[in-house]
Amino acid sequence: ELTTYMAYLEGEWKKSSSGETIAIQSPYLRKTIGYVQAVTQDEVDSAITTAHKAQKEWAKLSLSERGAYLENWADELVKSSEDIATAVMQEVGKGFKDAQKEVVRTADLIRYTVQEALHMHGESLKGDGFPGGDQKKIGIVERAPLGVVLAIAPFNYPVNLAASKIAPALMAGNAVLFKPATQGSISGIKMIEALDKTGLPKGLLSLTTGRGSVIGDYLVEHKGINMISFTGGSATGRHLSKQTAMIPLVLELGGKDPALVSDDADMDVAVSSIMNGAFSYSGQRCTAIKRVLVNEKVADELVSRLKTEIEKLTVGSPENNSTIVPLIDDKSADFVQGLIDDALAKNATLITGNKRKENLIYPTLLDHVTEDMDIAWIEPFGPVLPVIRVKSDEEAIEIANKSEFGLQASIFSQDIDRALAVARQVEAGTVQINGRTERGPDHFPFLGVKASGMGVQGIHNSILSMSRERVTVLNLK
Ligand code: G3H
Repeated sequence: ELTTYMAYLEGEWKKSSSGETIAIQSPYLRKTIGYVQAVTQDEVDSAITTAHKAQKEWAKLSLSERGAYLENWADELVKSSEDIATAVMQEVGKGFKDAQKEVVRTADLIRYTVQEALHMHGESLKGDGFPGGDQKKIGIVERAPLGVVLAIAPFNYPVNLAASKIAPALMAGNAVLFKPATQGSISGIKMIEALDKTGLPKGLLSLTTGRGSVIGDYLVEHKGINMISFTGGSATGRHLSKQTAMIPLVLELGGKDPALVSDDADMDVAVSSIMNGAFSYSGQRCTAIKRVLVNEKVADELVSRLKTEIEKLTVGSPENNSTIVPLIDDKSADFVQGLIDDALAKNATLITGNKRKENLIYPTLLDHVTEDMDIAWIEPFGPVLPVIRVKSDEEAIEIANKSEFGLQASIFSQDIDRALAVARQVEAGTVQINGRTERGPDHFPFLGVKASGMGVQGIHNSILSMSRERVTVLNLK
């Protein structure tokens, strides 16, 4: 019999008063694997009111006391890693080993967040630093919590991208309302069960699973929410930024990360980085390499080597740790297939792939992709890689920057001066030289420009964005 999971509201695991549940589908088992509660707007109101009360007490605890809860949370996550990884695998179709790595990475992230918060400090300013100022005026600058943080996580890292919001929010002294992705809710529930085991003060964090149409906009527009940290699609991010007013917002959205391969690239490095960057978890990463801009002098070699590697990829079930797994749902697979069909209709060259079984899309490499094709610009979130041939670094930069997105980019060249010169002209939050695009290590700043986001994540910056300056001025006699 399938489990019906409870919502975590005001420190209690309970059924929603709606009496309704949402069925959670597994992308590869292709069946319902459990049910989660469809939380109501009244329950959201009540959770937020309680969160505000709990936050006041929480902020009074010392940093080390708050840190102790989180350290215990990290330990509990590791203890339940097998169970949580199984949920991640079944619910979002991530390979079991990668799901386990996600849990361990999350425990590391939580522990680092505690240490970072313990080591952050304010400053004092002297009044006489400004003309007409006076030594008797001393400004003390500390960090203060914002109140209740709304953390909205995506399906692709249901544990890690939730904790990377929850942990800094709590360390900064905030309460949290956590809204997992629908596919990702069971994983989210299990990670909060681990947090609940630490004896976290009741009401400090509530987990609201539910229908976007009922509680999505309601949460986002709620007067009791003081900050939102969202990871997900660009269209939702844009919508969210219009719904909110006068509260800080951090958005990590989509990408179309290019790999710029110059004619002097180390091909071994370029091939292995592009393969891993583009195809791990079937390309369902915001930071996946989503287009290759290759100098025409080395394009034939690159394409032929990528073809060889793609044909070696394992395709199948996350239970066997296949690299290529069924996409999150049928709609996503239809979308990816539509992009492939459009490119082929416009005369892209199919090098390998374009095979499909239900929502399992085989890894696909398209060469001679041109700017009139949707795949040149649109993010597939699937295992399809377009190759655009260019004549020069300048042309590669121009096409890289024509994208609406600007998350990351990779540059492959053995000439570090040349690579750096290109890197500085590419519009992206992060440029990787001779490596794949990726968010980690998790203490690096992580940000997208243009349609890829707003604000900065990474452990240090997340703590900053979930707190504010509190300035106290001493006016001495
Ligand atoms: O999907 C978006 C994630 O932030 C990407 O993280 O680079 O570690 O896969 P990752």
